[in-house]
Amino acid sequence: MIRQENCRIVSNRQIADNIFELVLDGDLSAEMTQAGQFVHVKVADGFDPLLRRPISIASINDGSFTIIYRRQGKGTSLLADKSTGITVDVLGPLGNGFPVDEAKPGQTAVLVGGGVGVPPMYELAKQLARKGVNVVSIIGFQSFSAVFYEKELAELGEVYVATVDGSYGRKGFVTDILDGLAVQADIVFACGPTPMLRAIENGNYAPKTYLSLEERMGCGIGACFACVCHTQDDPKGFSYKKVCSDGPVFQAGEVVI
Ligand code: FES
Repeated sequence: MIRQENCRIVSNRQIADNIFELVLDGDLSAEMTQAGQFVHVKVADGFDPLLRRPISIASINDGSFTIIYRRQGKGTSLLADKSTGITVDVLGPLGNGFPVDEAKPGQTAVLVGGGVGVPPMYELAKQLARKGVNVVSIIGFQSFSAVFYEKELAELGEVYVATVDGSYGRKGFVTDILDGLAVQADIVFACGPTPMLRAIENGNYAPKTYLSLEERMGCGIGACFACVCHTQDDPKGFSYKKVCSDGPVFQAGEVVI
C-alpha cells in the first residue's frame, strides 16, 4: 500500500562523488517488498522546489530503508544538507519492481547497474541470493571517484566494475564486461541510463531481460502523464505505458526505450 510519512533520518552520508546514501526510519518500510520500487521524496520544506524527487530503494531493512541519490541541482542539494534526526516527507513505495520469481534457485542472474542505477541492484541481489540464485553484478561508473556499493554487492556474489575513463576496474562500459562474461546468464536485470539499457536490450544476453527505466517524473503515481513511453508493438500510436506506475521495470521488448 502507498503511504505518505514523515520519515526520520538515521544517516545521510556521502559515499562517492556527489552520491549520498540516506537511511530513513519509518513504518513505510513495512510496505516495501519489491526490489526496484522507488519513493517520492519532498526535498524542501516550503514550496520551492515544488516537485518531489523519485529515488530508488537501495535496501529494505527492518524498520528502515536506504535510498541513494545523486546531488545535482537545487532539490537534491537541499536533501544532502539535511542532518540526522530531522524528518523527510516520503511517499511510497511506488511502481512495480523486478520480478524476482522469474529467477529460479540455481540459475544465474546477471545484474547490471550504471551510476545511480546501481542502488536498486543491491536489494535485488539480496533477494535473489536469499532464494539461492547465483548473482553476478556488473556495475559501471564514469571514474573511480564515482564508484560505490562494490563491497556490499561482493558479499552477495561476483562483482565486475567498469569505468569510462579506466581509472578503476575495466576501462569502458558495462556491456564490454557483458560481452566477455564467462558464465551464461539465465536472466538479466538492468537499471541505468537509456543508452546502456538500449545496448543491453539489443545484446540479447539472456533468455529473459528486465530493464528499469530512469525517466523524468512529475506526480509519480500515474496522474500527470509526464513519464509516458510508447509500447514497442505500437511505437507511434496511442498505446503507451507510464513509467511511474506501469514500470519502472519492463521486460525487454515491451516499451520503446
Ligand atoms: Fe505522473 Fe508518471 S510521473 S504519470
